[in-house]
Formats: sequence, structure tokens, C-alpha cells
Amino acid sequence: MRSEESSRSTSDLSPATARAPGKVILAGEHFVVLGAPAVAMAIDLYSQVQVIPKNGSGVSITADIPLRFLAGKSGNPLVPHPGELLRPLQLKRVVNIDHGLWVNVECEIPVAAGLGSSASTTVAIISAIARSKGIELSKKKIFELAFVPENFLHGKPSGVDQATCIYGSMIQFSRPSNVKTIRPKKDPVLLVCDTGIHHTTRTLVGGVVQKSKREKKDFQNYLAKVREISGRVAKSLREGDDEELGILMNQNHELLRKIGVSHPKLDHLVEVARRAGALGAKLTGAGGGGCVVVLNPSRIVRDRVARVLRREGGTPYKISMDTSGVESRPA
Ligand code: MEV
Repeated sequence: MRSEESSRSTSDLSPATARAPGKVILAGEHFVVLGAPAVAMAIDLYSQVQVIPKNGSGVSITADIPLRFLAGKSGNPLVPHPGELLRPLQLKRVVNIDHGLWVNVECEIPVAAGLGSSASTTVAIISAIARSKGIELSKKKIFELAFVPENFLHGKPSGVDQATCIYGSMIQFSRPSNVKTIRPKKDPVLLVCDTGIHHTTRTLVGGVVQKSKREKKDFQNYLAKVREISGRVAKSLREGDDEELGILMNQNHELLRKIGVSHPKLDHLVEVARRAGALGAKLTGAGGGGCVVVLNPSRIVRDRVARVLRREGGTPYKISMDTSGVESRPA
């Protein structure tokens, strides 16, 4: 395997694959953009990328991504040119792609649902293309490169999504690039439930940033609370204290409601999950629709909560922690 630096000028490509997990944020979304730490976990829903050299020049892309979720209320796609989702191919800036290339993307992560589908496909594409050039990029480099498409898609993201998909497991993240691994005492029994209402992260994040400028005093208080919540969430995970974790998730949801990124359906699913026996529930990711994440005291309760949420019109996914992060290999 060559280093990042030594092989920039070579043009040989060989088939390669990469896989990256999705993510769920347990504390601190939105406030992480404003400087607070967030706690996030990589989940066992993946995007998979294959890169195959082809004759001639040019890059062709095939993608099996649940893009139907990108249709807005009007039926018009929220992303006008779905091909734009594949902007990570701007990796060209680092790796000279002077051969023909076929990139095939398969993503099992619901799109625009707060589960990191764009960050996951981005880091998998970057890793697979680099690997096909015989380059093993460092995690730090993948993180840096992933800002190109992530900025394009989401405006000014914090980087927490791509960091989680790259490093895997559980992390505490703060801007600009501070990643601390959290070793949980036990895996929390989680599920996510998709409202089926989909959003644009860019609009939601932009709205919160604007609001934080108008309501400076309130946001100072919120930020102090979120700093405390994130710190205590990390501690409760290390100590395996689910009761405490559940309480903190509920508090975090209230703060997200206050800053206006929840949605009546998210609030409803959160309420229903808590009544069905969950220890805590909150929206996860940018909000405005998307998913709730629910902490359960046991697998039996999780099964019950999932059934109840489905009856209420949500789509539940029982999730576990991914421990690998992004992985690439020759095909
Ligand atoms: C989106 O998954 C998380 C947000 O905090 C945006 C970001 O951190 O880039 C809403």
C-alpha cells in the first residue's frame, strides 16, 4: 500500500470496494455547529461502494439510493440533480483520475432522515476511489476531503456526521475536528424510527444559526446546557447508566423543540415511545422530520416499542453499534 503523498501522479487503477456505516446522534445536534460537543454512534446500516476501472476516460456512476425520499411536498426533488450527491468525486483534487472509472453506490440508509446517508456514501466513495489507486487515506484525510461534498449538500456542517462514519463506534465530537472515542460499558438497546417526513439539513442548520444570532442570550443558556448534557451522556455510556442516559436524551429533545427543529410527528413518536416503556427518546440529526432515536431498557421492551411506533405510522429500525467505521479493500 502506498502512502497518500507518493502515488498522486500514477494512473493505475484497480477494482476496489469500501463500506461505511450510518450514524445516530445521541446528544448535541445543531448545538455542535455552534461549538458544543455532540455524542454520536455509528450504526449497522451501511453504504457500499464498488469502483471498477473502465476503458477510456470519464467517470460513470450508478447508484441504488432511496432517492424517492428526496421528493419535496410539491413532488419536486429537494436536490435538483441527484448526481450532485456524488460530488465526492471532487477527490480528483487529491487523486488524479485520468482513467475511466465506474462507481457503483448502494446505500441502505434512509436518505434525508438524519441517519448520515450522505456522510456515509461520501466517505465510502472517497475511500474506495483512493483504494483503487492503491492509496490508503488516513482517517484525518478522509475527514478533510468529506467536507467538499458535505459543505455542498449541507451548507456549513460541523463534521460530526462524517467523523462518526469514518471512526465508527461512539464518539464525542467538537468542532473543528476533535474526536474522542467513547467506550461504552454496554451497547445501549436502541431503535430509530423514521417519521417518513424528510427535510433538508442545509435549511434547518441555516435557520438555527440565524436564530442563534437573533436570540444570543437564550442560545448562551442552551449551549451551556448542551455542553453539560453531552458530557453527562458520554459519562453515562461509559458507566452503562441507562436510566441517566434516557433522562438526558429527553432533556436534549426539549432543547431541540425550543430551538424549533422538531416536528409534531417527531414529538408524537417520542411521546408514544416513552409511554410504551422507553427510558428516553429524542429527535436525531437535523430534525424537521426524519428520525427519533429511542433508548430501551431491554430487547423485549424494544420489540414492543417498535410495534407501537409502527402502528403510529413510523418505520422502526432496531440498530446496533458499528465498530469498524469506514473500511476499504481491493476487490
Ligand atoms: C446533522 O446530522 C447534525 C447537525 O448538527 C448538523 C451538523 O452538525 O453538521 C444538525
